[in-house]
Amino acid sequence: MLGQLEKLKQNALQELENIASAAKLESWRVHYLGKKSQLTAILRSLATLPLEERKTVGSQANEVKTALETSLEEKGQLLREAKLTAAGEGHIDITLPGRPFPVGGLHPITQTLYEIYDIFASMGFQVVEGPEVEWDYYNFEALNIPDEHPARDTMATLWVDFETEEGKRPMLLRTHTSPMQIRVMEKMEAPLRVIMPGKVYRYEASDATHVPMFYQIEGLAIDKDITMADLKGTLYEFARRFFGEDRKVRFRCDYFPFVEPGVEMAIECLVCNGSGCRLCGNTGWIEILGAGMTHPQVLKNGGFDPEVYNGFAFGMGIERMPMLRYGIDDIRLFYGSDLRFLRQF
Ligand code: DAH
Repeated sequence: MLGQLEKLKQNALQELENIASAAKLESWRVHYLGKKSQLTAILRSLATLPLEERKTVGSQANEVKTALETSLEEKGQLLREAKLTAAGEGHIDITLPGRPFPVGGLHPITQTLYEIYDIFASMGFQVVEGPEVEWDYYNFEALNIPDEHPARDTMATLWVDFETEEGKRPMLLRTHTSPMQIRVMEKMEAPLRVIMPGKVYRYEASDATHVPMFYQIEGLAIDKDITMADLKGTLYEFARRFFGEDRKVRFRCDYFPFVEPGVEMAIECLVCNGSGCRLCGNTGWIEILGAGMTHPQVLKNGGFDPEVYNGFAFGMGIERMPMLRYGIDDIRLFYGSDLRFLRQF
């Protein structure tokens, strides 16, 4: 019987070598290890054998059984692996680089705003934001621009009048960030130094230099002994930091109803460095902002005694800054959502 077992084992293992499918493997299992297999029959018959023979045959039969079971397990594993490899062939190239995650970026106007915040923050200014839908009072009235004032005509206004039980109250999309000067004065104590960024709106058609929505940053400083020298020093430092150390700056008189005196600040042209070109209209200078000493009436409107306090204010358009710096000649590019343009920043 020992020879029989040895033969059985050899046959089984040899047959197993050539098996290449799970179905064939199962038939093999049934044939060699199943209930009706020769091996099972031998194991069952052990009880009928004399003791000595039972021992040797029994241990031999169990050894064969274990050997077959182990080989069965190994073969099964091999077949499963081969199947996976075959399924992947031609479908998955594991040497391909991974897919990149698209990473977003900040809009060039946002980047410019952040850069300007940093410059003014280093000089002690804090950032305050306010409403884009504004009362006539803050946008015009409190800034010394009464109903019949010609300055109203310079800012084509989008009106969104507000219905109340007593009638209409004039409301609008703010035409500049200056109304925030009054809102800040109402809420804060002197000494104060703030910049007030945000969107402003004008009822205008778009072209290379106009869009109906754009950004401004307003600035306001109020204290007991502020002078024009503080205004000039602050804005000069800003221009140096934003446009470069050697950039010349020019202040000239200008008129804005909410400041007295009022000035406009220009920088030396970035294209021709002052010698005159198309960008600067041959003047060598480019205007970048309006400013001035806060008008006494405006201080009063904000709740400050003009006999005790004074201040300076400034306001600038934001789009112009990157346009000048990078030589961008059409403001509409910022709002066209063309990623080929936006991704450059
Ligand atoms: N608000 C003005 C405008 O939009 C800009 C301006 C000029 C703001 C002079 C100021 C200022 O604060 O002092 O045209």
